[in-house]
Amino acid sequence: MSRPHVTLKLATSLDGRIATASGESRWITGQESRAEVQRLRAAAQAVMIGAGTARADDPELLARTDPPPGRQPLRVVLDTEFSLPPRGRLFASLDRGPVLIIGALDGNPAARAALEAAGAQTGAVSRGPVGIDAEAALDLLAEEGVERVLVEGGGVLAASLLGADAVDRLEWFRAPMLMGGDGRPSVAALELARLAEAPAWRRVALRELGPDLWESYERA
Ligand SMILES: NC(=O)c1ccc[n+]([C@@H]2O[C@H](COP(=O)([O-])OP(=O)(O)OC[C@H]3O[C@@H](n4cnc5c(N)ncnc54)[C@H](OP(=O)(O)O)[C@@H]3O)[C@@H](O)[C@H]2O)c1
Repeated sequence: MSRPHVTLKLATSLDGRIATASGESRWITGQESRAEVQRLRAAAQAVMIGAGTARADDPELLARTDPPPGRQPLRVVLDTEFSLPPRGRLFASLDRGPVLIIGALDGNPAARAALEAAGAQTGAVSRGPVGIDAEAALDLLAEEGVERVLVEGGGVLAASLLGADAVDRLEWFRAPMLMGGDGRPSVAALELARLAEAPAWRRVALRELGPDLWESYERA
């Protein structure tokens, strides 16, 4: 079974930051950009985030389009120890769309059971260099019939997928503000030894969305 097509969405400042040092990230981009993100969500079969974003932002991850999509995407969180509290907006909206928490095979079984009791689906894969093995998580999604995933951050998850060469497309929404080096990076460390190792991308579209720019890239 082939791995799902992975689109990484980034909503950043001009200098590629996704949040202030204190974690504030709402809202960096403007209304038009956010509406396009909702359309990307509606077109994806699954939307995926890391546990850091789930904890910091308590997102709902539903596609809020008008009209709403026929089916909401599967909302996926990579949470190694199944440590998310089984409450918050993902759980409050289970009647509108499913939530899948993927953790480690040897993640906390009691915490996993609590997430299931609260109505989430769970899955488990082996551990990776950071958290769980990101590629194994994508394989698990393929087994669930998912062909297209939209990854919505944060920077640690973005780096681990880019480092595994598992991202097919970037949708980059860039707002005209600067956050500086103490802002949270959109892509955490890639630990490149040489410039030649930097993942290279080919821009396939560039549009203005009010004050923002929306750039789309595919692998070069
Ligand atoms: N501007 C935007 O569009 C945007 C979007 C998203 C997030 N944000 C901001 O970004 C910040 C959170 O980002 P973050 O980088 O700290 O966290 P993140 O990337 O959302 O989550 C990272 C965490 O996910 C878990 N994880 C499990 N498997 C993983 C894997 N294979 N690769 C990577 N992570 C894995 C790990 O936690 P465990 O060990 O606990 O499992 C890891 O520490 C927040 O401030 C949020 O507001 C902004």
